Amino acid sequence: MKYELGLIGYPIKQSLSPWIHQQFLIKAGLEGNYSMQEINPDESFGEEIEKIKSSQFDGFNVTVPYKKRIINHLDQMDEDAQTIGAVNTVVHRDGEWTGHNTDWIGYITSLKRHYPSIFQNKMSSILLVGAGGAARGIYYGLLKEGFIRIDIANRTQSSAEAIAELGDTTTQTSIMALESAEKRLGTYDLIIQTTNIGMKPNVSDTIISLDQLHENSIVSDIVYQPIKTEFLHQASQQGASIHYGHTMLLYQAQYAFELWTSKKIPADDMEELLKHKLEGR
Ligand code: ATR
Repeated sequence: MKYELGLIGYPIKQSLSPWIHQQFLIKAGLEGNYSMQEINPDESFGEEIEKIKSSQFDGFNVTVPYKKRIINHLDQMDEDAQTIGAVNTVVHRDGEWTGHNTDWIGYITSLKRHYPSIFQNKMSSILLVGAGGAARGIYYGLLKEGFIRIDIANRTQSSAEAIAELGDTTTQTSIMALESAEKRLGTYDLIIQTTNIGMKPNVSDTIISLDQLHENSIVSDIVYQPIKTEFLHQASQQGASIHYGHTMLLYQAQYAFELWTSKKIPADDMEELLKHKLEGR
């Protein structure tokens, strides 16, 4: 069988997903294509999706800005994607299109690989900075892992409150303004930057000041263009440990590939290669 896979989003010309999935196909000894299906926001999304669905696709990834919009064009969604309310992976099997979300598990896997110790203490105190779609997936993943102290700082409090509703009675989540998070930064074991602030070309932007950061903390940023964001740069200057965003990209792809082909391909050895590829851009 030859797999027909692809990526829907805009803009996606710079995406490294085709490279990642080509590597997975080679490693798995499978034949296949992973093509770019860029949908310009000026075009009719519905029409473009129907065209893609009428081709021979076995599945595709979905990225910004279509992770929510795709939902109306699917037959079903798995429980994770339903709760998160966003789809990054679509599987076409037996004539049905099913939506999945592998972003959250990709993030958790990457964090566990680099900082397994944090998973040993479920009382670790965690701060999510930002409350968009990415934050929602990460909050969901942290809850699944059993963490109960997860605060959310965001410019708009109501978005953070909506994410906190995913928690149950054992979850302790305080919602706060970005300025309050700056003052309380020293109390967190793990701080996760979940917005696209600091992404190219705005490489000198940071969402909060890290002045109060404790050197024992771990600082994570989901932005991977540049690899070392200004946020991560400042964190390492303060002596903190850092966690890079490109590892999330790699492991969400690993789970997507497994959904399409039932093959779990080791990806640890690709982290450095991916980093070099991104640095060369
Ligand atoms: P995604 O789904 O990719 O996470 P999103 O849903 O648009 O993107 O969320 C973007 C996040 O970045 C939000 O937390 C947003 O804050 P608001 O909820 O207040 O809009 C945050 N964000 C974007 N620009 C920002 C800025 N200039 N200052 C602070 N936060 C910002």
